[in-house]
Amino acid sequence: MNELTKNSDTDTYHEHARITLRRLMPVFERQLSNTEEEVRETFLERVSTHWPRLFSLLFQLYGHRYDFFYHLEQLAIELSQTYLERPQRLKERDKQREYDPTWFMSNEIVGGAMYVGLFTENLQSLRENISYFKELGITYVHLMPLFEEREGESDGGYAIKDYRSVNPELGTLDDLREVAQAFQEQGILLVLDFVFNHTSDEHLWAKKAQSGDPEFQDFYYIFPDRTIPNQYEEHLREIFPTVRRGNFSWHNGMKKWVWTTFNSYQWDLKYANPSVFRAMLGEMFFLANVGVDVLRLDAVAFIWKKMGTNCENLPEAHLLIQAFNAAVRIATPGLIFKSEAIVHPRDVLSYVSPEECHLSYNPLLMAMLWEALATRKVHLLHESVSRKFSIPQNTMWCNYLRCHDDIGWTFDNDDAWRIGIDPEGHRDFLNRFYTGDFEGSFARGVPFQYNPDTGDMRISGTLASLAGLEQAIDAEDGLLQDMAIKRIVLLNSLIMSMGGVPLLYLGEEWGVLNDYDYIHDPRKSEDSRWIHRSTMRWDYIEGLDMEDSLQGRIYRHIQRLIHLRKEHTAFFGAAIDVFYSGNEHVFAFIRNNMGAQIVVLANFSEEPQEVSGNVIRSHAIGRFFYDIFTEEEISTAKPIPLGPYQFRWLERR
Ligand code: GLC
Ligand code: GLC
Repeated sequence: MNELTKNSDTDTYHEHARITLRRLMPVFERQLSNTEEEVRETFLERVSTHWPRLFSLLFQLYGHRYDFFYHLEQLAIELSQTYLERPQRLKERDKQREYDPTWFMSNEIVGGAMYVGLFTENLQSLRENISYFKELGITYVHLMPLFEEREGESDGGYAIKDYRSVNPELGTLDDLREVAQAFQEQGILLVLDFVFNHTSDEHLWAKKAQSGDPEFQDFYYIFPDRTIPNQYEEHLREIFPTVRRGNFSWHNGMKKWVWTTFNSYQWDLKYANPSVFRAMLGEMFFLANVGVDVLRLDAVAFIWKKMGTNCENLPEAHLLIQAFNAAVRIATPGLIFKSEAIVHPRDVLSYVSPEECHLSYNPLLMAMLWEALATRKVHLLHESVSRKFSIPQNTMWCNYLRCHDDIGWTFDNDDAWRIGIDPEGHRDFLNRFYTGDFEGSFARGVPFQYNPDTGDMRISGTLASLAGLEQAIDAEDGLLQDMAIKRIVLLNSLIMSMGGVPLLYLGEEWGVLNDYDYIHDPRKSEDSRWIHRSTMRWDYIEGLDMEDSLQGRIYRHIQRLIHLRKEHTAFFGAAIDVFYSGNEHVFAFIRNNMGAQIVVLANFSEEPQEVSGNVIRSHAIGRFFYDIFTEEEISTAKPIPLGPYQFRWLERR
């Protein structure tokens, strides 16, 4: 598309937007007729600011449809209703956040993710954990899917039966509302999943489709035979090849094929149908009004399909997410999205903007930290971060080491080639290293989703087991145990200091090891990710010696890192300045914010290293520094020493 047509398209959208807004104003006004003037004004102002964008996005997706205006009219009603039903405390928070659009960028935000049922018992007991979050320093809590899920296998809750009811084992909707309110009072952000690429096969819509209702069959991609699926299949990847080959599943009741990117019981929603967009927007608004601060948009890459493409990261996927975003800005503006795109780094970046997702997982940094730990060299980490870390203003990475999912080696092949690394051979090495199939490896991971046709494989395992603690404990070797702890602390020091929100997978702060018991549970045995989804052993933790036990040492270090991060405004925001340390084992960057500066050095090898003082002086301001972690004075007149796996956080003196 050349600039000319682009401009004239935009003009057309604006013109149409203006006209529809004029036609819809009475609808908005009627909906709000019984409210106080100030409440109405706030809303109508948001409508006039954000409607043109929302309209233009929907016009590009659905403007060709005969019933387009009908959907807009319904949408106007739904936006108004959502705003009207929004609790007062959330309305007030919306206003504060509109006033400060960087509210989520603070260095005081530190995240933790968990399965409620594994971390504690249920939503009621979770409120008792608030003191634990405070003690550790967690201010952002992602509760993984806690909605009513299908019976039997449910992909760890990602196969949802009803977005508006809570899994009865965990509690009720009222319990969830109370958690939301308690979190708000205690300054903790609540993060929930929005699993919007698919519903489970037991969701009401899927049930209706199964009973033959054409309206709901049109909510999914359902085909009478293999003709069309085969055509799509020519270009598609397989995400879970060990549980089922291909992307379509046969449904015996309907005698039809259904598009199921993930498991056969997770039915992909058909967003080409505007009723699906509106229905899911309704589910989203429902969660927004429960009091969620951040919605984690699950599997964003897959939400739009187009014949002849790989059906990942399509332009329409972006339009859709932006449309959800624009609708939020009108009705529930305090809410932001986090993108879960575990795809090529270029595509990961494409979801990050204030108009789309303010936050995004950073799977590239995650993978590259593990890569550097295996190779003891920082070339690929440095190259990847230099090229793929920078994101738009007012957006943030979520930097993590482990989550409930696997580790995939999603670096850019071109970045690898540029520094002389053969990407495929390297992935193969990393997989062997982390499954312990490499001479001298310290790691105890297991394969996830090995695909014999492509050789693709990902890795499951806990932070501690992958970093060598499990092996060291089995060997009863104190020195190896110290090394493993140093690796764990080193990795954590990086997510705490790189630009973005650090995100812990809770339990890892105690160095939990792999749990091999999942193999005996038929609901889990086929999915090795359960190896790193274990139950918190609070009774065991309580009995720990906090000074001397391995677990106590890990916990105290992580807690200290968190507290230091919060004290230093240099860690605010997402921007970093990477530089080459002159030592191939030492990763280096600078954080600058409002006059505060911290230089970070991280030694990825088990040998002592040093970095020349001149290198530091040529990148950072100042000659004398203070290591805020070790509390040492550091002068750049001499080379700066780093012990095995040591990191330094150097503040200018
Ligand atoms: C996301 C989740 C993952 C799940 C998948 C399908 O990637 O993190 O656990 O299997 O989506 O919902
Ligand atoms: C989920 C899966 C991961 C897959 C990704 C694709 O995160 O766990 O294996 O690569 O989805 O988006």
